Amino acid sequence: MDNQQCHQVFPLEAFEQAATPFYYYDLKMLKATLQEIKHFATAAGYVVHYAVKANGNARILSEIARAGLGADLVSGGEMRAAIKAGFSAESMAYSGVGKTDWEIRLGLEHGIGCFNVESLPELEVINLMAGEMGTTAPVAIRVNPDIDAHTHRYITTGTAANKFGIGIEALQSVVERALQLPNIRLRGLHFHIGSQITEMVPYEMLCDTVNQLLDDYARRGIEFEMINVGGGLGIDYGQPDAHIMPDFESYFNTFKRINLRRGQQLHFELGRSVVAQCGTLIGRVVYVKQSRDKKFAIMDAGMTDLIRPALYEAHHLIQNLTSPSTDLETYDVVGPVCESSDVFAHDCPLHVTRRGDLIAIRSAGAYGESMASTYNMRSMPGIMFSD
Ligand code: LLP
Repeated sequence: MDNQQCHQVFPLEAFEQAATPFYYYDLKMLKATLQEIKHFATAAGYVVHYAVKANGNARILSEIARAGLGADLVSGGEMRAAIKAGFSAESMAYSGVGKTDWEIRLGLEHGIGCFNVESLPELEVINLMAGEMGTTAPVAIRVNPDIDAHTHRYITTGTAANKFGIGIEALQSVVERALQLPNIRLRGLHFHIGSQITEMVPYEMLCDTVNQLLDDYARRGIEFEMINVGGGLGIDYGQPDAHIMPDFESYFNTFKRINLRRGQQLHFELGRSVVAQCGTLIGRVVYVKQSRDKKFAIMDAGMTDLIRPALYEAHHLIQNLTSPSTDLETYDVVGPVCESSDVFAHDCPLHVTRRGDLIAIRSAGAYGESMASTYNMRSMPGIMFSD
């Protein structure tokens, strides 16, 4: 595959002036993606929350809030950022196995739409705190459906070996407890089976599990107002220009398999599929170094700016934006951080690369900036937006 097929148009003049490394966000692409999501989700009557953890950049958040998506949160910090960006509290769903007292209190103070509860002790604490505050907490119970999403083991969440959710065997007792507790309003069930899921089969299995649970509970006279099936829809990291958007139509259609009861709402929590393709990490080559066996393109961007390759062995398409050559050479593209895992790609075909060339690491809008760190006392990456 020619690594240089770059259909996205980058503003190279602006790039040349800017200090590298930085994230470049194409807001037009983000808006187009949001329109596509709304088109298919609204037609089906679905409610979509955006998983803030994928990218909490203030400008991106306000674009997504303006498009009318809700927010899916995993910390008090994300809650504050979402409120500031203009998401309504009622549109917020809050997951996480370790919600602390101040975070629960913050959610109750703001009147968030739903706590996705991951354990019995958490349910009891939320009930207590809501009682102290003279309020009622809206809650969904997060179910661990024991479905293997066949994605990287670090981003599989819905198997019995994972810390997330409550196993089906324990679910009934937690649902009963939630119905008894005076300061809890049980709204529904929540699921999330993993991330970067590119096949629909795990989602079909999830739908079957949901149907079975809905039948079981209906027989016991329990009806839920909503079902939240989480997120996880994958994107094309190999050929971003060929699939600038995932197939939202097929994705949402898959969930028509769920036999929703009258008035029951289906909720989603999409992160990566909303923001990944609109973001690119731009860096410069500092040195080209030839060792006995390899040629290294050493960049000023590193694992502190984008940790996905180092942490998950993730593949991102890499392109040399300024090489005048049409010849391809093979490089290990690496960062400057003092870790052997600070490698963006091994044996990566690039047009002949020189010191000073601008390099694009594509599909970096999700879990890029939001996972950046200052390890090695490096600066955080810069940000540039297109309008
Ligand atoms: N809902 C819950 C409860 C989640 O835990 C997650 C992601 C999402 C929704 C959104 O999933 P998405 O649509 O973005 O796949 N840092 C990893 C991904 C971690 C995902 C964590 N949970 C990566 O860079 O691949």
